[in-house]
Amino acid sequence: MDQFLITGSSRIAGEVTISGAKNAALPLLAAMILAETSTTLHNVPSLQDVRTLIKLIAGMGIKIEKQGDTVTCDTKSIDNFYAPYDLVKTMRASILVLGPLLARFGEAEVSLPGGCAIGSRPVDQHLKAFEAMGAEISVENGYVKAKAPKGGKLIGCKFSFDMVTVGGTENVIIAATLAKGTTVLGNCALEPEVVDLANMLVAMGAKISGIGTSIMTIEGVERLHGCEYSVVADRVETGSYLAGALMTRGDVLTKKTSALLLTPVLEKFEDMGAVITTGDDWIRAQMKGRPLPVDIRTQPHPGFPTDMQAQVMAISCIADGTSTFIENIFENRFMHVPELNRLGASIQVDGHTAVVKGVESFTAAPVMATDLRASMSLVMAAATAEGESLIDRIYHIDRGYEDVENKLRSLGVNIERINTND
Ligand code: EPZ
Repeated sequence: MDQFLITGSSRIAGEVTISGAKNAALPLLAAMILAETSTTLHNVPSLQDVRTLIKLIAGMGIKIEKQGDTVTCDTKSIDNFYAPYDLVKTMRASILVLGPLLARFGEAEVSLPGGCAIGSRPVDQHLKAFEAMGAEISVENGYVKAKAPKGGKLIGCKFSFDMVTVGGTENVIIAATLAKGTTVLGNCALEPEVVDLANMLVAMGAKISGIGTSIMTIEGVERLHGCEYSVVADRVETGSYLAGALMTRGDVLTKKTSALLLTPVLEKFEDMGAVITTGDDWIRAQMKGRPLPVDIRTQPHPGFPTDMQAQVMAISCIADGTSTFIENIFENRFMHVPELNRLGASIQVDGHTAVVKGVESFTAAPVMATDLRASMSLVMAAATAEGESLIDRIYHIDRGYEDVENKLRSLGVNIERINTND
């Protein structure tokens, strides 16, 4: 299992080019299943999760391949509608193939995604919406078996989600594009990745209005054609690297990204004392002194994103004062806390609230990554600690941060990947 050996302390400063968003690439790849002619997707990040989903789609007999950051897909040779547990269990967003398979082919058998470290991650809203569209859904032996009503087409309907769900919104928008009639979806997620998906579907011939709002209307069409599209920049990768500047009186320029994608995060960075400057496709964070404390409540977009909670907590650990974090989206997203405390932080958790008493600096220690975004918070903390820190189970970080060592090295971090053979 690979580890990172990080020798601090570094001032995190330099330029880094941001990759396409993992959380946009995954639904966009799933949506390619809808197209009757070939589709080309650019700016696709080289990540473990992307490789897993491509393997899953190829397993259906679909011709899909990635050359560099471009994925081409031709669905003509599809010969099954099955998503096996051994792949789905490693990448729970695989559930996003359910919507396109059901919508276009009228049937699908997709393994239920397991939970993960940060929560049980149910998909009840996805299934409830598909049933409202006339699908017969059964769950047998850990698999969701779904069949469209007689005639093989889902039926447009009015449906509102019980809570804001990014994946649920994505799965149902995809399915509604080929339904008979019109679907009106309420309480939709507003995340930039949902907007990116809707925009690609429109480029494929879908009829969608209300994009970027909480009520979306999708008028079903007979068929969708391929298109050429480019994945939106990764706002979480952007925020993760900018956070390093705030922790080390640093100066980080992120390129090929947009401030519009992470306004709530940039506002908090300014509250913590950073000078943020932006252009059409870049964001710069400069930090002169020690970070100021901050209060964070994670919310669906346009609130503060849960995917940046761990990274901003790492900044607050060395702030001049006490910060509070309330995690409203997932039931167990504080697993980075004991690891940050091993690095010298002073954090107390009480249910969904974490109270962080700022300390002068982190101290080097061996720690363990527990989930994707927690990993990056530990990397940044170790980079600011005097001495050597060993971070275990860094396969988590490979799921969501493309070319992470080289990007960190370009920002001045002394990092080495160690392959342990166990
Ligand atoms: C997406 O997960 C992202 N993943 C997550 O990013 C992100 O944290 C999350 O949205 C919230 O923004 C991808 O896009 C691949 P949800 P998703 O459905 O779609 C509950 C990362 O680090 N819920 O919006 O799975 C659920 O349990 C990852 O990149 C139900 O109860 O999130 C959670 O508490 C982590 N029933 C809340 O809603 C459902 O049917 C939000 O989940 C669906 C969700």
